[in-house]
Amino acid sequence: MTEGNVDYAFSYAPGKVILSGEHAVVYGYPAVAATLDKGVRIAVKQAHQQNDGPILRAGSLGISSDIRPDPNGDGPELLRKALARLAELFQDRVKSLDMMVESAIPAGRGLGSSAALSVAMIRGVCRFLGINLEHHAEVELAMELEKIFHGSPSGIDHTVISKGGCVLFQRQADKPTISSIHVARQLQLAVGFSSPHGGTLKTVKALQERYMRAPHLYKHLFEGIGALAIEMQKALLEGHLYAVGELMNINQGYLNALGVSTAELEALCHIARSNGALGAKLTGAGCGGAVIALADGNVDHIVSAFQSAGFSAFKTECQTTEPASCTNSGKVENMYEYKA
Ligand code: PMV
Repeated sequence: MTEGNVDYAFSYAPGKVILSGEHAVVYGYPAVAATLDKGVRIAVKQAHQQNDGPILRAGSLGISSDIRPDPNGDGPELLRKALARLAELFQDRVKSLDMMVESAIPAGRGLGSSAALSVAMIRGVCRFLGINLEHHAEVELAMELEKIFHGSPSGIDHTVISKGGCVLFQRQADKPTISSIHVARQLQLAVGFSSPHGGTLKTVKALQERYMRAPHLYKHLFEGIGALAIEMQKALLEGHLYAVGELMNINQGYLNALGVSTAELEALCHIARSNGALGAKLTGAGCGGAVIALADGNVDHIVSAFQSAGFSAFKTECQTTEPASCTNSGKVENMYEYKA
């Protein structure tokens, strides 16, 4: 659309939570993830007299400088590398584009900010260039960017974000299997934030080292986590929120055993459970990040309990069905007017 003689293309991608099965999913076990009602929006336009882009403006991610694919430029290295990869993937057709990001999900907390950014950038660029991208192609391109952010990701983050809704995901050698779960009840979550994790790549690698030392022991944990994901699928389909909460609690026990929980994450789980949450667990890589707590009509109370204990927190809801695709209209000053 045109605004004040400027042509914009707008895109949106939601954040995500892993309800069951992070880490084990890297080793080929099933996991359940769902997209959120908060995400990343991008406005794409032609930059003025620039051909060293694409340029990313990400003030809402706490990054004040403009980011370019320049290896020696300003801003986080991984973002600069991701922009360079984007330029390669689109054969330099994006080098004169300017992308303004608005994110409602914090980075480095396990809510899928890098995968949402990857999917939103690809969607925005394709809209701007008039490319009609099929779903599987979007997932493949997003995987290329996720490899920059995460090394060797299972693919669960960008796959659920690209698809939307709630899915059971299993990594396979050639192609992952993904099935939508039609969740029978609303899932209201209180999210309590610990300090940012040190990067998914680092946490996954450290666990891999522990696994290599005693694969037969870790196999028991991964198998247990995989079984929980299948139970979680069933509980969600049937709308048994008590079972969903119970499964989250048990999964958290396994994540602690894997060595990816921390005292702060355990404290957040304890606060949530003792304030009426049906269940609570860390989500994503762990070793920092966030705890998700399943509410039972008491989401505001749990959010307040996190905040009273000194943690930042917000409430959110899982998208229980695949959303309709994003519209390509609205005003750039208020990108949150756009609905996915
Ligand atoms: O913290 P996040 O949002 O990057 O989630 C990582 C999930 C892991 O299972 C730990 C890694 C992966 O690639 O699946």
